[in-house]
Amino acid sequence: MRFYSLQAAAKINLYLEIIGDRPDGFHELVMIMQSVALADRLTVRTIGVDDIRVRCNHPQVPADETNLAYRAAALLAQEFPTQIAKFGGVEIVIEKNIPIGAGLAGGSTNAAAVLVGLDLLWQLGLTQLELQDLGAKLGSDVPFCIMGGTAIATGRGEELDTLRGLDQLHVVLAKYQSLAVSTPWAYQTYRQQFGDRYLNDPQRRRERQQRIHSGAMVAAISHHDYATVGQELCNDFENVVLPAYPQVAQLKETMASLGGLGTLMSGSGPTVFTLVETAAQAAEMATRLRQAIPDEDLGIWPTQLTSTSIQLEP
Ligand code: C5P
Repeated sequence: MRFYSLQAAAKINLYLEIIGDRPDGFHELVMIMQSVALADRLTVRTIGVDDIRVRCNHPQVPADETNLAYRAAALLAQEFPTQIAKFGGVEIVIEKNIPIGAGLAGGSTNAAAVLVGLDLLWQLGLTQLELQDLGAKLGSDVPFCIMGGTAIATGRGEELDTLRGLDQLHVVLAKYQSLAVSTPWAYQTYRQQFGDRYLNDPQRRRERQQRIHSGAMVAAISHHDYATVGQELCNDFENVVLPAYPQVAQLKETMASLGGLGTLMSGSGPTVFTLVETAAQAAEMATRLRQAIPDEDLGIWPTQLTSTSIQLEP
């Protein structure tokens, strides 16, 4: 029996702008994505029978084809049937550390790790770009989760440009464990309330997607101007999620009042994060947040930004 174990990092969005509808039902985005060190651990191993089996230590993570990790294995099995016939099926074991339904791409990063792990296990010899293209068939965030680090993401989120890394920074993530926001709901509500802001002209969309490259956030990232990175944090989803979930709005206000470089909700939420400069500041902020909101339902994770997403364990 052969196996590989991999770390699969979560992500946050430092910038997220929704700029229009797409004919495929998705939305055109301009984002800056960032990997964080908080990671799940996945093991993929060959099993004698022609099957895909998923096990996870988190009771709410499904073991069937609704799990993106399962779908990643099924996609590879379908694309490369002779390889799976040679090696047999696979068991995927997920040790969950990333909160679920959080806006941290937990499911997407698990799928990314399965693609990377099965590429090795089934000796497919795929390039990173080929893995990213396969990842895009599974979900908009999967290609970024394969690439990792700091990147501009446009299109559905799958068109990526690497930026100079921000991995010196630290971050405190906080999420009410019992709360989850539906991403389709967040997009739909945003479209209903702010759809009149959308750019319908393809040329204007392209210009907007290009402008991020010369904007203040990208300049701040490339100069390691952390104060400006904190000031430029922006997420359109806050406009719909914070009014609908006052608990999250209150959490953001409390975190912002504790200092740091800047505070933002990640993705479609409901995780809120504060960027800080050192591990000591992250630990202190986590302690002060716990004192300010002594609710056991609030999960708090001090961690750091990282330049790697999927890492093979030795
Ligand atoms: O791509 P993914 O499966 O992660 O997307 C989840 C949901 O988010 C989609 O079903 C869609 O409703 C919405 N979405 C979108 N536009 C994007 C990405 C996601 O409308 N660019």
